[in-house]
Amino acid sequence: MLRKAKLADVKKIQRLINFYAKKNEMLPLSLSELYDNIRNFYVYEKDGRILGCGALRVTWDKLGEIRSVAIQRSKQKAGIGKKIVRMCLKEARQLGLEKVFVLTYKPDYFKKFGFKDVDKYQLPHKVWRDCIKCVYFPDCEEDALIKTLK
Ligand SMILES: CC(C)(COP(=O)(O)OP(=O)(O)OC[C@H]1O[C@@H](n2cnc3c(N)ncnc32)[C@H](O)[C@@H]1OP(=O)(O)O)[C@@H](O)C(=O)NCCC(=O)NCCS
Repeated sequence: MLRKAKLADVKKIQRLINFYAKKNEMLPLSLSELYDNIRNFYVYEKDGRILGCGALRVTWDKLGEIRSVAIQRSKQKAGIGKKIVRMCLKEARQLGLEKVFVLTYKPDYFKKFGFKDVDKYQLPHKVWRDCIKCVYFPDCEEDALIKTLK
């Protein structure tokens, strides 16, 4: 079942994200960042287990970001990520966002949803707020992609 995250999910979401962060597939998230952003998160739960997560964050006027999409290794390629990304895009449209971007090491995955490459430097300065805090700044190898919502 896909649903909005609850506070009780925070530590499970962190474990999921940081599993991939340790493999340099995603950026790590602290508990503090997760509590700040928990209302942005969706989780996919089955039999009490969190199998996947992802978040939509409003960045700026008409611009949002999909971030922290992570699916349990053993449950990948079963459509869970797709459900989460589509739900984030649906919410983005409902909110009135016109564009959604991602920063990711998996650009080909997001291209499947119609995201296109964009020069990171075209994104608003506010995006750099997180980047500056990141341990990989300024040598980040994440790709930036953006999708215009219909
Ligand atoms: C990348 C990730 C989120 C994909 O989620 P998933 O649930 O395994 O993928 P889905 O089942 O939604 O796949 C949807 C489609 O994308 C394809 N796909 C899956 N992973 C892909 C990848 N890494 N690159 C390109 N395509 C991919 C699937 O084959 C499927 O194609 P189809 O619709 O033609 O059959 C998941 O593998 C993951 O958690 N990876 C580790 C964390 C990570 O890198 N997150 C990236 C976002 S920051």
